[in-house]
Amino acid sequence: MSGIVERIPTQLFIDGKWQDSADRSTFGVDDPGTEQRLCEVADGQATDAEAAVEAAAAAQEAWARTPPRERGEILRRAWQLMRERADDLAVLMTLEMGKTLAESRTEVNYAAEFFRWFSEEAVRIDGRYSPNPAGGGRLIVTRQPVGPCLLITPWNFPLAMGTRKIGPAVAAGCTMIVKPPQLTPLSMLNLADLLTEAGLPDGVLNVVPSTSATRIVNPVLADARVRKLSFTGSTEVGRRLVEQCAGNLQRMSMELGGNAPFLVFADADLDAAVRGALTAKLRNNGESCVAANRFHVAEPVAEEFTRRLTAEMSAQRIGHGTEKGVTVGPLISAEQRDKVIELVEDARTRGARVTTGGETVAGTGYFYRPTVLADVPEDARILREEVFGPVAPVTTFADEDEAVALGNDTEFGLVGYLFTRDLDRAVRVGENLHTGMVGINTGLVSNPAAPFGGVKASGFGREGGPEGIDEYLDTKYLALAVG
Ligand code: SIN
Repeated sequence: MSGIVERIPTQLFIDGKWQDSADRSTFGVDDPGTEQRLCEVADGQATDAEAAVEAAAAAQEAWARTPPRERGEILRRAWQLMRERADDLAVLMTLEMGKTLAESRTEVNYAAEFFRWFSEEAVRIDGRYSPNPAGGGRLIVTRQPVGPCLLITPWNFPLAMGTRKIGPAVAAGCTMIVKPPQLTPLSMLNLADLLTEAGLPDGVLNVVPSTSATRIVNPVLADARVRKLSFTGSTEVGRRLVEQCAGNLQRMSMELGGNAPFLVFADADLDAAVRGALTAKLRNNGESCVAANRFHVAEPVAEEFTRRLTAEMSAQRIGHGTEKGVTVGPLISAEQRDKVIELVEDARTRGARVTTGGETVAGTGYFYRPTVLADVPEDARILREEVFGPVAPVTTFADEDEAVALGNDTEFGLVGYLFTRDLDRAVRVGENLHTGMVGINTGLVSNPAAPFGGVKASGFGREGGPEGIDEYLDTKYLALAVG
């Protein structure tokens, strides 16, 4: 494809310099659609992580003093560069992650918009000045950057999950150590290059890919100069990281797993519900923490909804993400495909009916056919576990109370979707779902201008929106005596 893989840097990025890892080791990055090696990337070691912390700590003070407008301008230039290079960025993402080119282009735009959004937020870091209610002074409240941050990004959105953390950190005046995912590090390395071109000073952003997350994370979090962790990934790993941050009481943002319910009420516009279902299920091939994980449909419309969804899912074209007309690419790895197989087989064994799909595609690449499961029994694992694949299990409900109870019957609380024409019901159910986000008559909630995040086992903290920068700012109060 366009030679983009040959053009991007594949070393560690520390203190503004590209360099080999301490022991010069590398690891391979593969195309999940062909199972072929794309390139080798420097495999970061613990001493590299320590060097990255040194660089971030050394750059922190001057960076915090850089005028907000200047920080915002760097993000704005980076947004512009991403738009100009959108085609190359998209191809690279498709090659390393598998999603279709159309989806990669959408992600590049989504990712770039975080930079534009936070370039605008950089100049709105406010505070307050008020009289002391008891008299004799003034209260000055201001906000300051938390300090060097560790940002751990996932493989499913190789660019957007990076810009969603880097954007507010830059805007707030924080320096960073980024640990990109082992499976898809290339987009982040390319982004580091682009941000340097946009004017980001040395040491502000350091990127350390590695085959061992703990090898990087342990020394970084053990250093008390690092003041914040932002993590996107599984709840299991998130729990361990929360414990690890206790040592130095680092601030945390945890964007963890989901198990999103998709509720279709009898009065819903079924065309809109099926369109929304396709978006919520097939966006990123289902490999998203906001993917609809289970469909609960009102009894009177369940059969018709399942029929229409089945027709749409079987009409998808599977293939390598770079091929024209392909709408569903491969899953990220053999391990991920096996997990999908396991959950579908579990449901099938317990009595679920496969109305389309339910199988892999022969040949190379980790492909799994878009699948709909009807009559899924309550005890099927797929209703409790995040499938992270193109599988839509459908069950029914009798009334609104049951729909809400089913929706909330999970330890997770990231997002819920509901389709109804009844505005009262939309507001009622939206408020009663125990989630951080709700999509009402839409299968897409993600938006750089909105606060993305969950409750319960889906984590805490918000990314995007005006709330996104708060995660990178400490509140400081100055007591001023006035005679
Ligand atoms: C995720 O899956 O981690 C985030 C998805 C999104 O931003 O839409």
